[in-house]
Amino acid sequence: MKKVAVLGSGNGSNFQAIAEYFQGKEVEFTCICDKKDGYILERAKNLNIPAFYVPFSETHEFLKDKSFDLIVLAGYMRILPPKVLDLGKFINIHPSLLPSFKGIDAIKQAYDYGVKITGVTVHYVCEEVDAGTIIAQVSTNIEPDMNLYQLENVIHAIEHRLYPVVIDNILFDRVVDYSEQFAIGNKSSCEGCGCH
Ligand code: GRF
Repeated sequence: MKKVAVLGSGNGSNFQAIAEYFQGKEVEFTCICDKKDGYILERAKNLNIPAFYVPFSETHEFLKDKSFDLIVLAGYMRILPPKVLDLGKFINIHPSLLPSFKGIDAIKQAYDYGVKITGVTVHYVCEEVDAGTIIAQVSTNIEPDMNLYQLENVIHAIEHRLYPVVIDNILFDRVVDYSEQFAIGNKSSCEGCGCH
């Protein structure tokens, strides 16, 4: 049985997607939220997953000795210090193609900038925000008639598909090229043309 901690601060839609993907599989989750009223805690309760409000200052104390196989950040709005990062393998999901549009409101940053392609990045966590080694990226086109709300929906849908699979592959040491598996919104020009 693998042990995974998911740390969030708010909504928890990625946490829910991850938990649902792993239902019935050999992975045991613990949900941690640094906000007392984070909706992620509610979701955990509904999914029968142990959930804890852990103030940021107590994160080290909480994680140490628990030996999680993986610690997953999903909308966790804190910068973890090296002392905490030393406790395990941490990954994060970010709603842009890093290294572009780091930090908060990344979807809007990309939209407002006018880029034509954006996407989602899963990366290891290091001391610097959104700067750790990239594990997987999925791109999507920003169509000319798309509004920000539509783009947010596309990005979140990609996140919910990508994150569980990446976690699965890391937990079970699979090396994967995600580009083909997740070619969402990037229909290859030869799709369906019969050239393969
Ligand atoms: C996601 O867009 C994720 O990429 C970013 O924060 C958001 C969290 O959403 N790091 P949710 O809490 O999982 O719904």
